Amino acid sequence: MEINLSNRIMFFCFLLIATMATRGVGLRFDNKSGEFKIVQVADMHYADGQSTRCLNVPLDQQATCSDLNTTDFLYRVIRAENPELVVFTGDNIYGKDTTDPVKSMNMAFDPVVALKLPWAAVLGNHDQESSLSREDVMRHITAMPYTLSRLNPDDGSEIDSYGNYNIEISGPEGSPLVNKSVLNLYFLDSGDYSTVQSINGYSWIKLSQQKVYKSAPHEQKENAPGLVYFHIPVPEYASFDSNSTKFIGVKHEPISNASINSGFFTTMVEAGDVKAVFTGHDHLNDFCGELTGIQLCYAGGFGYHAYGKAGWPRRARVVSAFLEKTADGQWGGVKSIKSWKRLDDQYLFHNRFSSPLELVVKFTITGTSTSIELKRHAAIYTRRIEFVTISDRQ
Ligand SMILES: *[C@@H]1O[C@H](CO)[C@@H](O)[C@H](O)[C@H]1NC(C)=O
Ligand SMILES: *[C@@H]1O[C@H](CO)[C@@H](O)[C@H](O)[C@H]1NC(C)=O
Ligand SMILES: *[C@@H]1O[C@H](CO)[C@@H](O)[C@H](O)[C@H]1NC(C)=O
Ligand SMILES: *[C@@H]1O[C@H](CO)[C@@H](O)[C@H](O)[C@H]1NC(C)=O
Ligand SMILES: *[C@@H]1O[C@H](CO)[C@@H](O)[C@H](O)[C@H]1NC(C)=O
Repeated sequence: MEINLSNRIMFFCFLLIATMATRGVGLRFDNKSGEFKIVQVADMHYADGQSTRCLNVPLDQQATCSDLNTTDFLYRVIRAENPELVVFTGDNIYGKDTTDPVKSMNMAFDPVVALKLPWAAVLGNHDQESSLSREDVMRHITAMPYTLSRLNPDDGSEIDSYGNYNIEISGPEGSPLVNKSVLNLYFLDSGDYSTVQSINGYSWIKLSQQKVYKSAPHEQKENAPGLVYFHIPVPEYASFDSNSTKFIGVKHEPISNASINSGFFTTMVEAGDVKAVFTGHDHLNDFCGELTGIQLCYAGGFGYHAYGKAGWPRRARVVSAFLEKTADGQWGGVKSIKSWKRLDDQYLFHNRFSSPLELVVKFTITGTSTSIELKRHAAIYTRRIEFVTISDRQ
């Protein structure tokens, strides 16, 4: 293929951005299990903590429910899944009800910090609605302990919005792919509201941001699948608004995407490496649906101060990538990627500290074998539901 000069210059610009945007964070697949697991937390809507009441919980729960239930849920879901990374996809705090945004963020992210877990965050449309701007909110996040979040590529390039970066997950210690990214994660800021007078509604992913996605180093990217995280669904999610398009999971509300299409989905389809996109924003949707080879997934609402549906548990989405074993017994590239959900229901641990052994006898599991996996994990039966195979090379 002929590459003309301007393309080549662009390519090197991208390469430069990529080098700046990629931090050697040392995240890698587990050497024993060949697995890398990510818990996605969407829409915590954290405000002031104990004094912030829960929305849409059963009547008899209202008196005892606050932001602290969100904190507790986060601890318990982490304990159940034991992920390598936690990703927060925006509306982490609910600015309008937050009297001190710094305190609010510190409380919201406290579980991952306390557990010393690597974590990454992007912004939603509500994070900046108190006294801090989007830039200041993102700056605070990037300065917090154990986070891999970054503001933007710091090469001086003009870029819209705050929190556009990528993270590479390398092969396991002791494997031939120890120095190569075998899974690429991309984080983008889908903005808040349109500032263009003739266009109503939510903002969109600008062309300048799409470069961050396009710019991951070629040699790193080769053969490595990508997963993309941001807050507001791209308009292609709206193809699931008619019930004719199949998806796995729940759609309890309309898709609130931006009213115009900035082409990011097409960019991803063309590049061909992205296997799945994970958003939040619509708390009552938690499905994954496939469109031209890309799974478009929602996490469903996590936070108790976020709107929800009484009796419909708050939830999180989990995704795991599994490596293949090569003929010589070494770990190779990613073989399959799967996703499932975790609900804050009777099947999740009730106490983040309680002894696993006590819990075994308390759980009775019901359901069909197609939608529920019973997993004996550290002597605890836990429930994961609605499995989606995102990618599989068997
Ligand atoms: C919130 O937490 C309190 C204290 O642990 C608990 O009693 C209550 O049931 C929780 N509410 C919900 C809706 O999870
Ligand atoms: C795991 O790491 C150890 C030590 O680095 C190495 O000896 C071993 O071969 C690795 N296991 C696999 C399956 O790659
Ligand atoms: C990975 O990089 C380290 C440090 O540069 C080097 O010593 C090692 O040989 C490399 N391993 C492989 C398998 O490429
Ligand atoms: C899709 O199905 C849901 C639930 O069955 C229903 O409430 C909704 O009106 C349907 N939407 C369309 C566009 O048919
Ligand atoms: C979402 O995108 C679809 C397809 O482009 C469009 O028809 C719809 O109006 C958009 N939704 C909103 C809320 O703007």
